Amino acid sequence: MKNDFYKYQAQTTPHPLALEISHAKGSYVYDSSGKKHLDFVAGVSACTLGHCHPKIVSAIKNQAEKYLHVMVYGEYIQEPAVELAKLLAENLPPNLNTTYLVNSGTEAIEGALKLARRATGRTQLLYANNAYHGNTMGSMSVMGYEERKNAFKPLVPDCFPVNFNNEADLQKITKETAAIILETIQGGAGFIQPENDYLKKVRKRCDETGTLLILDEIQPGFGRTGRLFAFEHFGIVPDILVMGKGMGGGLPIGAFTASHEVMGLLQDNPKLGHITTFGGNPVIAAAALATLKELTETDIIQQTLQKEKLFRKLLKHPLIKEVRGQGLMLAAMLETAEIASEVILACKDRGLILFWLLFEDRAIRITPPLTISNDEIAEGCKILQNVLNRIKSN
Ligand SMILES: Cc1ncc(COP(=O)(O)O)c(C=O)c1O
Repeated sequence: MKNDFYKYQAQTTPHPLALEISHAKGSYVYDSSGKKHLDFVAGVSACTLGHCHPKIVSAIKNQAEKYLHVMVYGEYIQEPAVELAKLLAENLPPNLNTTYLVNSGTEAIEGALKLARRATGRTQLLYANNAYHGNTMGSMSVMGYEERKNAFKPLVPDCFPVNFNNEADLQKITKETAAIILETIQGGAGFIQPENDYLKKVRKRCDETGTLLILDEIQPGFGRTGRLFAFEHFGIVPDILVMGKGMGGGLPIGAFTASHEVMGLLQDNPKLGHITTFGGNPVIAAAALATLKELTETDIIQQTLQKEKLFRKLLKHPLIKEVRGQGLMLAAMLETAEIASEVILACKDRGLILFWLLFEDRAIRITPPLTISNDEIAEGCKILQNVLNRIKSN
């Protein structure tokens, strides 16, 4: 299988982790040799309720037996998609009441950027340095990391950077600006949180200039930071909210949500303003609905804050300089990229799955399923501590 993996499947790095998967359940992934791996990454924040949560699997099976795909997005009334959009609206502020379902995070970003241009009649888009919003051309145009963009230029015109958390840069938001897009908590950059009421100041400047605020919650959304959406921590509401990853409980989905009025603009001038064949697919919507129901009907989200405390207590070590992030979106900061890589690879050998962040190579990603137990947290942190101790004594 390994040879065929390298031979037939496109790779994005020269040295993939290449763990050969047999199955996965709860907080564990099992490889083809039968070894079990405790998962502190959750498919890069995607498996919100762990692997193969029974309610998600049952929702998928039930829907698969009724119908799979019947029509392109938005034409037919399909219960899972309607119920999902409705439950989202019930759990969001009143202006975020209408949802467009797509197939991935980056596609949701594309939709949000298009909607902002269409709604304002303006073209300029601002984004933050070190931001990550996905890998299609539009999302890359608002990626704040030039090194990763250069080979693919020219990208979408009229996109300009600001520095995240920089108040002076907010003057770059003007009456020419269609939208500013920000991650509520910057992920790839190293789990950087907004400081000093930054998001409130962005909101105010957007209101003054008629600019739309797009918040990308593809990673922090769906409970990961101790609230259903991370913007709830910061006392503001975006004009367009973008979600994905953990929304599908392990299946591919994305969505952007705005007011009924703004979203209605996609219906004309031009009509079919954003279209997709598989967006809102009933099987995937059923999985997302089961995930959202579980998150909103239990105290799983509140528990993430207590689990964060446990992680912070158990992650104390001379080699860990800082633990960044919130809830179960945490990054352990090591002194150098080399140490971080050594730790990630040594933990892999000892049955603990960790991973890198995109642009901050001193960070170790800790984004386990929200359903992880306290015992599992302790088990994983012990493996990590043992690895760190060996490095320290070398
Ligand atoms: C903040 C953020 N935005 C956008 C994306 C892109 O989502 P996808 O990989 O589903 O296209 C990601 C994925 O890592 C992300 O973390």
